[in-house]
Amino acid sequence: MNATVRAVVRSALQNDMSVVGFKRGYNGVLMRSSTQTDDFQMMTARSVSDKIHRGGTFLMTARCLEFKNRDYQEKAVSNLRLLGVEGLVCIGGDGTFHGANALAELGFPVIGIPGTIDNDLDYTEATIGFDTALNTACDCVNRIRETSDSHERASIITVMGRNCGDIAVNTALACGAEVVIIPEKPWTVEELADQVRWGVMKGKRSMIMVFAEGAVHSLKSDVNAICSKYESLSDVSTRHLSSSQIAMMIEALSGHETRATVLGYTQRGGSPTAADRILASRLGAYAVHLLRDDQAGLAVGIRKGELINAPIHEAMHGRQSANEELLNLINELS
Ligand code: F6P
Repeated sequence: MNATVRAVVRSALQNDMSVVGFKRGYNGVLMRSSTQTDDFQMMTARSVSDKIHRGGTFLMTARCLEFKNRDYQEKAVSNLRLLGVEGLVCIGGDGTFHGANALAELGFPVIGIPGTIDNDLDYTEATIGFDTALNTACDCVNRIRETSDSHERASIITVMGRNCGDIAVNTALACGAEVVIIPEKPWTVEELADQVRWGVMKGKRSMIMVFAEGAVHSLKSDVNAICSKYESLSDVSTRHLSSSQIAMMIEALSGHETRATVLGYTQRGGSPTAADRILASRLGAYAVHLLRDDQAGLAVGIRKGELINAPIHEAMHGRQSANEELLNLINELS
């Protein structure tokens, strides 16, 4: 995010535009805090000094559920016009893009930049933040592998991604994981237990199962039936199934010690990778060039290494399918 804001600001100033940075996303545009300085700030070249390598976002971020409401969208357009803003660059994932599309429908010039670790937007091959989250997840999995290997355990490691399995699939491939479980594919606890048993028979000292957080929704097992057979599973709650509970079920079914780790927000912080900084710089500047050339209602992205743009109403759709080639490769190499 910081690297993207830096690119937008520096490129806009170079192209003789002035820049306002809104804080906390659409909340800042709606001016929801008690003081204006807490909603937005004028940006100079120095506002974005020493930012390209920093994680998080110095402008802060927040969900703004009310922005789904037309009244709030109209209020945003009127605030922007009052401030003399002529174009808005919105950085974020599908929620941000839905908001940006609403502003475009109301006639306000917007450009969307894909900034989400989830990599779940279909029109672009990469979103800003994904590569950093992936590398962080890989680093964590490597460490967990060492513990699992020493204790001869299986590990289930939950990564983020909302309804998209991209972080999980890429982490699994890069870390040589035995199994990946994603929302795009149905799965059962019984299959996982079989794979753990099979791994033990093949002489594996540790097994890594990378679990995408959204995959709780693609579970096809009858959890109640499994739990009724094992005393150790009497506390498992089928309503809020956690990865620890999945680990307990795998352990009960396979007879092999299994532990769970949830990586959580570790994936959303940290200094961005070079690939993310480069992507952020390219997309940020490209967004400004489009606005400068009077083009709007678009989202910028990347395909085969080239900058692309797409109508924002098309860009806001999430990807539905997983990468079969990578999934097959994980199986083949495990
Ligand atoms: O969209 C990014 C993401 O980190 C998802 O991977 C995750 O499901 C979600 O945000 C977490 O949201 P929150 O910030 O509300 O915890």
